[in-house]
Amino acid sequence: MGAAPQVEISQVPVHVAIVMDGNGRWAEERKRPRLFGHKAGVASVRAVVEAAREIGVRHLTLYAFSTENWKRPKIEVKGLMALLKSYLQSEVETMLKNDIRLCCLGQQERLPTEVRETLTAVINATAGCSAMTLNLALSYGGRNEIMQAVRALAEKCVAGELSVSDLDEALLSDHLYTRGQPDPDLFIRTSGEHRLSNFLLWQSSYAELYFTDLKWPDFGRDQFLEAVADYGRRQRRFGKTGAQLRK
Ligand code: FPP
Repeated sequence: MGAAPQVEISQVPVHVAIVMDGNGRWAEERKRPRLFGHKAGVASVRAVVEAAREIGVRHLTLYAFSTENWKRPKIEVKGLMALLKSYLQSEVETMLKNDIRLCCLGQQERLPTEVRETLTAVINATAGCSAMTLNLALSYGGRNEIMQAVRALAEKCVAGELSVSDLDEALLSDHLYTRGQPDPDLFIRTSGEHRLSNFLLWQSSYAELYFTDLKWPDFGRDQFLEAVADYGRRQRRFGKTGAQLRK
């Protein structure tokens, strides 16, 4: 693991979610193909996973590929899938060593067979790990996730397994890809864009938002620790007043 954090961290978020944006622009600035940026982005993924595990984050969710990303040029999609496969293959030993469980949020069935097989193998190999859960959002879309949960609940109502009066927020949460996991406390987006982009729409209701102009390949361990330190300086009120919280 890396050196001790250089910034003071007063409160470690239980769940951090990240929109890893800006790989393409980072590469274009260097007059290189977009895939060059995605490759550089993998190094940031490694650094951030390591830092998160080290400071005690329990759930880390990375938006690696959205349902909308299928519309990108074939060559970019193919390159991203190849990167993903090689990342999973090269990281499984480190995940086991660091007690990290891998999960996938999204439409796994849409992924190319060999990516799906590698993903399943790593998910199974790390199923017993418990220090941190690393969620990779792959072919993920927040509206799609909510819609499939609503559909599953409706089917249970029609089948008589549930009645409409049983439906509540907890039950809906239980039908999302993140079932059993806490909602994100901190939501980070790189590259200067201030959008949610269909990421964890239901789960991020009370997440603290952190935006940085840095593009994802320039976001590493120190930048992640700075985001966590910034989170520690926020007051989370969950609808209450500051005075109520001080009691
Ligand atoms: C957004 O940047 C990034 C992606 C769509 C892919 C993110 C993928 C990686 C970081 C590498 C592979 C992932 C793992 C987990 C190994 P963009 O391409 O939209 O950038 P732009 O907005 O500058 O075009």
